Amino acid sequence: MPGTPLIVLGIETSCDETAAALVNSEGKILSSLVLSQIEEHRIFGGVVPEIAARAHIDHLSTLIQAAMDDAGLTFKDLDGVAATCGPGLIGGVMIGMMAGKAIAASQSIPFIAINHLEGHALTPRLTDKIDFPYLLLLVSGGHTQILVVENIGQYRRLGTTLDDAAGECFDKSAKLMGLPYPGGPQIQEIATECKDLDAALKRFPLPTPMKGRSQPDFSFSGLKTALRLHVEKLPAGDLKREDIADLACAFQHTIAEVIADRCEKAIALFKQDYNPEKTVLVVSGGVAANTAIRSRLDALCKKHAIQSYAPPLSLCGDNAAMIAWAGLERLRLGLVNPLDFKARPRWPLDPDAEPRHGAGVKA
Ligand code: KG4
Ligand code: ZN
Repeated sequence: MPGTPLIVLGIETSCDETAAALVNSEGKILSSLVLSQIEEHRIFGGVVPEIAARAHIDHLSTLIQAAMDDAGLTFKDLDGVAATCGPGLIGGVMIGMMAGKAIAASQSIPFIAINHLEGHALTPRLTDKIDFPYLLLLVSGGHTQILVVENIGQYRRLGTTLDDAAGECFDKSAKLMGLPYPGGPQIQEIATECKDLDAALKRFPLPTPMKGRSQPDFSFSGLKTALRLHVEKLPAGDLKREDIADLACAFQHTIAEVIADRCEKAIALFKQDYNPEKTVLVVSGGVAANTAIRSRLDALCKKHAIQSYAPPLSLCGDNAAMIAWAGLERLRLGLVNPLDFKARPRWPLDPDAEPRHGAGVKA
């Protein structure tokens, strides 16, 4: 693009990460700071919305200033401010959105309201300049969806979870096994101690919900219940580390199998309706950090001779660089928002998608 690149400040406060970042229109991340609140929520075994909102208030302005300093910029250098306006915990969303609007108003620059999910969806264009359309598996603590990213603001949802999100299933199952929050990384770590996966799967058989169904939807609550029943059958008192390692390994393997099966269906649908030669599967969201899931999906993409891609770990989980980038993509098209834009606790990327029976809150 000729001329000086545009610079956008991104703000993310929709869950338990307070984040601020500066990105330019050439895709350069000038600064990106993420402050995790995990320690504040850990004793409750999950995110407490009121604590999250208060922590965002306490830290956001300092974090924004630190991101500006890291990039060596002042507010006068900005061409726009992008803030997550949903979906998410409404208290936190309001705080980031109001901060973004205040900066935009004070500098007389555009405000861009970002759907948090669009931030995840467009990340591969920030890091790898991937062309539309592509397939996106979004697996995080709050969301589990397979989408076709057709264009900016244009998404087709192929599948969603009917109950828990994949990350939620990891977190709740970890809790059942006595592992601390957040459970995903804990399960991955202890699973490495399992000596024999086949024996673990025989000892702890688990269901593979939705496997084989023609629509690439997900369901995780039955898996969590099966795991609970196994835990209850183990001798009372502290669970033995070897038992947890075997159970965690069987569980992780089963989730990877289910996710791969659902993605295989989505790949077939994509090939049928879009350019089969140029099929790309992008995996994003916190659960995409899981190495067993990543390698299972890599194998699937190899089998179908399609390109697979996962953003670097720092951009898989919640961050503000993805919000700034989504803001830049929108700003370039003139898609900016008025300062009375309202926060949206629910904000589907594909509003035309048929509701699924029992679909979870953010589907
Ligand atoms: O995208 P994210 O940072 O936040 C949102 O939920 O939006 O995702 C957090 C989720 C948590 O449920 C966490 O347990 C899961 O991602 N997670 C993992 C791993 N690392 C994080 N799940 C499985 N394996 C991991 N290595
Ligand atoms: Zn997220």
